[in-house]
Amino acid sequence: MIKSICCIGAGYVGGPTMAVIALKNPHIKVTVVDVNQDRINAWNSQDLDLLPIYEPGLADIVAKTRNVNLFFSTNVDEAIDQSDMIFISVNTPTKTYGIGKGMAADLKYIELCARQIARVATTDKIVVEKSTLPVRTASTIKSILKQSHNNVKFEILSNPEFLAEGTAITDLLNPDRVLIGGDYHTEDGKNAIAALSGIYLNWVTGDKIITTNIWSSELSKLTANAFLAQRIASVNAMSAICEVTEANVDEVAYAIGKDTRIGEKFLKASVGFGGSCFQKDILNLVYIAKSFGLNEVADYWEQVILMNNYQKKRFAQKVVQKMFNTVSGKKIVLLGWAFKKDTNDSRESAAIDIANYLIEEQAELHIYDPKVTAQQIFSDLERITGDNLQQLQEKIHVYNSAEAIFNNAHAIVILTEWDEFKTYNYIDIKNQMLEPAFIFDGRNILNPAEMHQIGFQYYGIGK
Ligand code: UDX
Ligand code: UDX
Ligand code: ADP
Repeated sequence: MIKSICCIGAGYVGGPTMAVIALKNPHIKVTVVDVNQDRINAWNSQDLDLLPIYEPGLADIVAKTRNVNLFFSTNVDEAIDQSDMIFISVNTPTKTYGIGKGMAADLKYIELCARQIARVATTDKIVVEKSTLPVRTASTIKSILKQSHNNVKFEILSNPEFLAEGTAITDLLNPDRVLIGGDYHTEDGKNAIAALSGIYLNWVTGDKIITTNIWSSELSKLTANAFLAQRIASVNAMSAICEVTEANVDEVAYAIGKDTRIGEKFLKASVGFGGSCFQKDILNLVYIAKSFGLNEVADYWEQVILMNNYQKKRFAQKVVQKMFNTVSGKKIVLLGWAFKKDTNDSRESAAIDIANYLIEEQAELHIYDPKVTAQQIFSDLERITGDNLQQLQEKIHVYNSAEAIFNNAHAIVILTEWDEFKTYNYIDIKNQMLEPAFIFDGRNILNPAEMHQIGFQYYGIGK
């Protein structure tokens, strides 16, 4: 019976997941640890608006559980030693150096965690991989844990998280499935799987818990993200065909989605997918395939990334082209910076690349996102443009609300599908803008007929 859980990594995955586990398992003490003191302070802040992650429903759960059975701390050693089960939920970014640069997952943080666990643990532990990892990472973790001198037994499980940002709490409360990979041929392995299942069974029905071997579990997570990203790349590829044939991509997506073999979800054409997972996981898959000499497999999946890059570039080029082939010195309003609505996360957001293209074309950008801070927007732009903050602040303006942003603008470019963008008074907005007033709707959230009626030059995706 698990009495105490520790989660290493208080990020987008670790934070919300542990909050829900704590809520549903009041008899278990859950401690989330991180080396980042600022992040832990933010998780502990009295003002719940200051939690480091914005997710609908998260603050309520934290309010109910924090300092009851959910704790946030930087004392990693103590939390490891006192727990029966340890979740590893640290980041695994794409490597930026050495072998596999730009492709392979950087496992340095995972390895550091494993070494720390081996060094500190004095009682038996179940170690759970929560981060998305390349296939066979568990064997790395196992061999490091074997080095422990404290005569401690470790059982390793893989339990990938399928939550999507913006819907993290509903996804956690009602998962499609819970995947647990473990050594089901051994008694110890079976017991570990049962212990982890027991935690989920407090709110998830048994039929949703899938048990596989550890390698299938690791690979399933990469595969799920690759398939999801591939659907978006596919529908975006069709959007390019729609734009030259008078077909409408939303109609095409609706029509094919009714085929139950295809299904309706994840067929929304867009300016390109973003987020911390899709690109990283596909690159990882490509790297794994290549390293086993499976070059055709690698090329197949790499095409998803290439198509996504093409979509972003195609959209930015369309903006320039429709505005008489120049945006130099023109005021362009970017609505949205997050990689999708209902999150403050901008990692790999399509907005970053599109802003960069427009900056190269010397556009004057005015940016507003309901949740992403100006500091974050500038730091994303520093990275992609190579300009420093001062240089950027001279030409780019970031707003706290959309109220004063449209005055004398040449164009509006919608990059994130925030609900509030649909509620604006576009008649008023049009009156504040220069003629001809352009809207480039990279998320197809506005009604084209209505926008034309108001007098906008309106362009969506795939229509
Ligand atoms: C297909 C479409 O399904 C149908 O909607 C369209 O009208 C015509 O083309 P069909 O070619 O008759 O129909 O057979 P289908 O069942 O789709 O199978 C096509 C091929 O894919 C077969 O060789 C089948 O063995 C293979 N297949 C199908 C797989 O290898 N794996 C699968 O999971 C499904
Ligand atoms: C994804 C997976 O959905 C989740 O299961 C996994 O655990 C982590 O990666 P996330 O990155 O949070 O989650 O967001 P998701 O909703 O999948 O969206 C990813 C990107 O695809 C966003 O930029 C989104 O705007 C875009 N998207 C999504 C589309 O362009 N069209 C769609 O139909 C769906
Ligand atoms: P994810 O989206 O996978 O949750 P994040 O980057 O949001 O990724 O969170 C990962 C967290 O893990 C970061 O807050 C980071 O500081 C933390 N972390 C990384 N390595 C360690 C470590 N060795 N010990 C404790 N925390 C770590």
